[in-house]
Amino acid sequence: MADYKITLLKGDGIGPEIVNQAVKVLDKAAEKFDFTVEYDEALLGGCAIDATGVPLPDETVAKCKASDSVLLGAVGGPKWDNQPGNNRPEAGLLGIRGALGLFANLRPSVIFGPLKSASPIKDEIIGGNLDIMIVRELTGGIYFGKKGRTEVDGNPAAWDTEMYSVPEVERIARVAFDLAMKRNKKLTSVDKANVLESSRLWRETVIRISEEYPEVELNHMYVDNAAMQLVRNPQQFDVIVTSNIFGDILSDEASMIAGSIGMLASASLSGGKLGLYEPIHGSAPDIAGQNIANPLATILSVSMMLRYSLSQPQAADAIENAVAKVLETHRTPDIYEDGFTKVGTEEMGDLVCAAL
Ligand code: IPM
Ligand code: MG
Repeated sequence: MADYKITLLKGDGIGPEIVNQAVKVLDKAAEKFDFTVEYDEALLGGCAIDATGVPLPDETVAKCKASDSVLLGAVGGPKWDNQPGNNRPEAGLLGIRGALGLFANLRPSVIFGPLKSASPIKDEIIGGNLDIMIVRELTGGIYFGKKGRTEVDGNPAAWDTEMYSVPEVERIARVAFDLAMKRNKKLTSVDKANVLESSRLWRETVIRISEEYPEVELNHMYVDNAAMQLVRNPQQFDVIVTSNIFGDILSDEASMIAGSIGMLASASLSGGKLGLYEPIHGSAPDIAGQNIANPLATILSVSMMLRYSLSQPQAADAIENAVAKVLETHRTPDIYEDGFTKVGTEEMGDLVCAAL
């Protein structure tokens, strides 16, 4: 029987309540598919600042490194808005991504059948089924480049740097091509090569790596066009590969096409077994503690964990099927529509467990 050690980073805002529901579902899956999970908790983000003064304590990095996988809720909130940039909760999130070498962020945008009507995009545009995989580079680019404050003509000014090295682009491109090979063999690389030098290097490199994958149909799109095409004709996309900042923006857009940002999961991978799994939404401090947050993105993050880190694909399928089944009858407020039963965070977790 397989035994897994999972570190929980519940974080801030709705983080703890949604992670608790995901843990319930993982325990249920463990029982059903005959493996065991042992949990350890560590601090990240605002709660870590409150307890230790910094958003990413060394102990958190050590615990994550010693586990099979990490499940994260969300970090941040207005309480820490006055922290200096390098000590904000978000710096903890970037820090853990960097410390664990999680360079590949997989953000699937999948529409669950019964949720089609919750999408703001017309049915005829969504078509039969929406299934886009955004592969976002996660440890490079402008998020990790040099930045600073300066003065220009006597006025205060600030700067950030977008830089990519060839090996950084090569490894994320390979992740994306490998995924495309397992899917519909279509890859769109998104850049801004008409303006940015870093994008020109990105594009050259992706083209060179494409020679290793003759079966994959590769195309290139400028990011502004990609943002437009996502709502004009999302069906044209299979796998999208892009930089850290473009992937941040396009994945929020793609999540809304799928009905709600409360539905989308993500996996951050390092090339090894260890991965970090988290919903793509934030900590929603305005609704924290009210038992109304949608836990499904976190529950679906557990399913990604089972698939990509723990080699339990059957348990992953079972959770996804259970979520689809519950959505036929029950909804949290963010995806509520007439004719369904409105439920809170805890009830949604219980319903998924029961459907498992
Ligand atoms: C995300 C979030 C983070 C990011 C923030 C919270 C730093 O928006 O995971 O998409 O920009 O990467
Ligand atoms: Mg984001």
